[in-house]
Amino acid sequence: MSKITKILCGAGIAMAASLSFNTMAADGATLYTAKLCQTCHGAEGKAPIMPQYPKLNGQNKEYLLAQMKDIKSGARSNGMAAAMKAMVANVSEEEMAAIADYLSQVK
Ligand code: HEC
Repeated sequence: MSKITKILCGAGIAMAASLSFNTMAADGATLYTAKLCQTCHGAEGKAPIMPQYPKLNGQNKEYLLAQMKDIKSGARSNGMAAAMKAMVANVSEEEMAAIADYLSQVK
């Protein structure tokens, strides 16, 4: 393999990696609005419609996913969790993970 081919291959891998990373973030963002999360948590999870509703942006991904799973399963039913339970009934764990990944990256 020539030196120039190696350099081009390296660039290709880096590009593919950043592309798939961007796709995943976009999917989470799309899901966030497609599943109507913004109707309570506001655009990008930054502006909840009521002071009792949590902001979600910049929170740890693992924490966000765990809370969504617990609210969906009913393990978490404190506070206003009931308001959200029906909303996550048709959101799969995979979709929750994509949304959690997206929200954790919103500054
Ligand atoms: C009907 C309003 C409503 C909708 C729609 C809604 N949520 Fe929530 N969500 C809440 C409320 C209220 C809480 C806080 C529950 C409590 O008081 O403990 C919450 C909590 C959360 C939490 C836990 C936050 C924390 O800090 O513990 C996450 C994560 C979350 N929602 C994500 C989502 C996602 C993702 C969607 C879209 C699939 C969504 N929510 C849709 C009302 C809603």
